[in-house]
Amino acid sequence: MSNGHDHHDGNDDHELRVSKIRDGTVIDHVHGGQALNVLAILGIDGTNGEEVSVGMNVPSDRLARKDIVKVEGRELSQDEVDVLSLIAPDATINIVRDFDVVEKHRVERPDVVEGVLSCPNPGCITTGDEPVTSRFSVLEDGVRCSYCETIVRDEIASLIDT
Ligand code: CTP
Ligand code: ZN
Repeated sequence: MSNGHDHHDGNDDHELRVSKIRDGTVIDHVHGGQALNVLAILGIDGTNGEEVSVGMNVPSDRLARKDIVKVEGRELSQDEVDVLSLIAPDATINIVRDFDVVEKHRVERPDVVEGVLSCPNPGCITTGDEPVTSRFSVLEDGVRCSYCETIVRDEIASLIDT
């Protein structure tokens, strides 16, 4: 309480915006505004009855504003976490079992993502008729198509094949 800054962390009990979950995954410290993209990456649109809570632009210590996504009954695979890292580089993945956080890890950006994003260049070999699996190298501030060298910095989520 005495760390001298003005922000309140959204996790304080008196400020809890989304209920705790029993079993599942909490994706915390997502940059403000990215929660819907996180859901898109996880293929969650609510039509399958998934129990999901989302907080958007809630106050946070570490980020000015953060989003938070809580998915009941699902533990994320490493592949899913890898892709999440592209749009949520500072996210914390918390695995919850019987209300306790039993695992907590920061996402790590992979060097390469294959078969996950589609190249925005219509002339790229990966977007033609031949089946060529997309491949992007992950840069500091974006991704680069390994075939046509197109670089995408913003809007990475819009390239996600879902
Ligand atoms: N959480 C939850 N349901 C639970 C346990 C935790 O939704 N049964 C959420 C908390 O609200 C928090 C996140 O999971 O947003 C991480 O929980 P915890 O590790 O207890 O919080 P902090 O120590 O504040 O996490 P950090 O240091 O990563 O910010
Ligand atoms: Zn390309």
